[in-house]
Amino acid sequence: MGSVNPSIDLAHDGEIAVVTIDNPPVNALKHEVRAGLIEAFQRVKNDAGVKAAVLACAGRTFSAGADISEFGKPRRSPGLIEVIETIESVGKPVVAALHGTPLGGGFELALGCHYRVAAPGTRVGLPEIKLGLLPGAGGTQRLPRLIGPERALQLIVSGNPTPVEELAQDGVVDAIVPGDLRQEAIAFARKVLSERRPLTRVRDREDRLSAARADAGAFTRAADASTKRARGLRAVPACVESVRNSFEKPFDEGQARELALFMELLTSEESRAQRHIFFAEREAQKVPDMPAGSKPRDIRRGGVIGAGTMGGGIAMNFANAGVSVTLVETAPDALDRGLATIRKNYANTVSRGGLSQEEMDRRVGLITGTTDFNALADADFIIEAVFEEMGLKKRVFAELDRIAKPGAILATNTSTLDVNEIAATTKRPQDVLGTHFFSPANVMKLLEIVRGEKTAFDALATAIALGRRMAKVPVVVGVCYGFVGNRMLHLRSVEAERLILEGALPQDVDAALTEFGFPMGPFAMSDLAGIDVGWRIRKGRGERAEISDTLAEMGRFGQKTGSGYFRYEGGRTPVPDPEVEKIIIDASNRLGIQRRTIDSQEILERLIFPMINEGARILEEGIAYRPGDIDVVWVYGYGWPVWRGGPMFYADQVGLGYIGDRLAHYAARSGDKALEPAPLLARLAREGRGFAENKSEDKAA
Ligand SMILES: NC(=O)c1ccc[n+]([C@@H]2O[C@H](COP(=O)([O-])OP(=O)(O)OC[C@H]3O[C@@H](n4cnc5c(N)ncnc54)[C@H](O)[C@@H]3O)[C@@H](O)[C@H]2O)c1
Repeated sequence: MGSVNPSIDLAHDGEIAVVTIDNPPVNALKHEVRAGLIEAFQRVKNDAGVKAAVLACAGRTFSAGADISEFGKPRRSPGLIEVIETIESVGKPVVAALHGTPLGGGFELALGCHYRVAAPGTRVGLPEIKLGLLPGAGGTQRLPRLIGPERALQLIVSGNPTPVEELAQDGVVDAIVPGDLRQEAIAFARKVLSERRPLTRVRDREDRLSAARADAGAFTRAADASTKRARGLRAVPACVESVRNSFEKPFDEGQARELALFMELLTSEESRAQRHIFFAEREAQKVPDMPAGSKPRDIRRGGVIGAGTMGGGIAMNFANAGVSVTLVETAPDALDRGLATIRKNYANTVSRGGLSQEEMDRRVGLITGTTDFNALADADFIIEAVFEEMGLKKRVFAELDRIAKPGAILATNTSTLDVNEIAATTKRPQDVLGTHFFSPANVMKLLEIVRGEKTAFDALATAIALGRRMAKVPVVVGVCYGFVGNRMLHLRSVEAERLILEGALPQDVDAALTEFGFPMGPFAMSDLAGIDVGWRIRKGRGERAEISDTLAEMGRFGQKTGSGYFRYEGGRTPVPDPEVEKIIIDASNRLGIQRRTIDSQEILERLIFPMINEGARILEEGIAYRPGDIDVVWVYGYGWPVWRGGPMFYADQVGLGYIGDRLAHYAARSGDKALEPAPLLARLAREGRGFAENKSEDKAA
């Protein structure tokens, strides 16, 4: 309990006042904190006995920013800008004492102080861009005054936290102080007083702006690069404009414009979508029926079976999380190939500057390759990534059941096989689950955790915890063919193939999706993944996909053979190919399909609405717990543009009534019953509601 209000304390150490924010867990700047800070600094100002002040935070971090649960609500005065103005005009030096992760509004608050000292390892940043916003409490105006506009723009559009050690030379912090932070900050304040340093506010500093004023070209070039990478993110050009104002306009004007831009973004669809994903990502880790207190099991050692495409990447994930891992293969040559690929991947990251050689060596050192299955006996979490064949997987799990220690988690990376059937080959189905990584497994963030019928809660909790340690985004899903992501993707692929047979070309189909905001369309994606993969699977099942299989039979497997749906002239850029056009037109003729012009609206609807429809079925069946889980799967696993919030969020924006009508229309025209509106979608559409408003109490039993 603070002396000013429950969140704010004001204490004194001689002539130094110490204002402490105490609002666990991260000292978010909720209304009570803001009001308490104004009150505390007014007292500091009016107390003649106080000569300087320290602003510190209790707990694990200096304020990590705004309380974003206040975002959708009416703004309550005082705002953060008023708090910062009060501190700046207190007439006495104020020293911010930073530790942990001062982010967003928290970092802006620190920039409003006259000095900043930080504990070693403190990381500062302005992550607003990740919510589709820009820093709205002077961050775009003050940071350029400390580190120059170009560097400030870089930090603001990356949104990533940066260690203060990298910024100390630029004056973001005045000192890095090992030892007791509060005492060091007080000592620093005393030093400022004894040296009679002038009381300079960051807003009045001009020296770092002069270079940009003299040559705005460098800033423009940096800005152009950022905007180009931004693909549809409105917040990026807003950041550019605002940072430019820092050297082109007086401070007050720049700050007023910054606030106006912030308010515009706050009410934009893009930011709403990004905030939805921010919350959905956190929510997705909660299993609704998991009893409180389900504790993850201890993971000291990992195991991976199969050192192929996926197994190698998964072993890297263990090493990246600092967990030593045993990688098992059938034969020494396959093992050597797998280990060599791992080393090559790490070496690439080192050469790009993403990892030090020392760190690479440490991680490679955590991976032990072997052809001896018994080496898995001491592993706590074993992930199987062998070929996608049920018989083989069953043999592997029976063997694991014999070897693995009691309580070890036995996971399969299968994309399509029934996890319950695999679990049933063991005497411990409670310890079996799916960990469905995405390719490349060491890069892609999404991790579908497949919950089997008998999977124990603490086994699930362990998989979620491990996923987070691996810096993945875990989403718990149920058992079905393709789980959430691939099951929906399948409908898109079917429709993409139909579209080209009916009259569109691969480049038209892909363009509809890239214009929507995907990094690539379905055909460029097939070329990247390899057209032969689906062809082999279909051959095994006696199925056929007209165009795709024709291309595969010609050896056009995609990027790896230099041609697929497109041609690749040495690079990765897909080039439309007249030969493919001819193959498609011939196929249409052969099948007696009258080709017609298909506009981009129809292409988009036919690619996306059936996926949404399948998402509705997935919800009805309880394969996903929440519409937001499906959105997270698509944003982190398939490149759905984050500023469109995922398929289910998007569906609610478009309106389920419209989507239902269009689906019914396409179903009637094609005769494909799978396109008929799913019962949940149809019901919500009738009721004029969206997926987000489908509360659990009125879900069908
Ligand atoms: N490739 C993808 O994009 C992707 C994505 C998600 C999931 N998956 C799934 O991951 C699994 C592995 O796929 P992949 O693409 O890495 O296959 P892959 O063919 O690249 O690798 C499989 C490896 O397993 C090894 N292996 C086979 N039997 C073994 C045994 N008994 N013991 C030890 N090692 C054995 C093989 O030698 C091979 O190196 C499959 O279930 C697949 O469906 C693949």
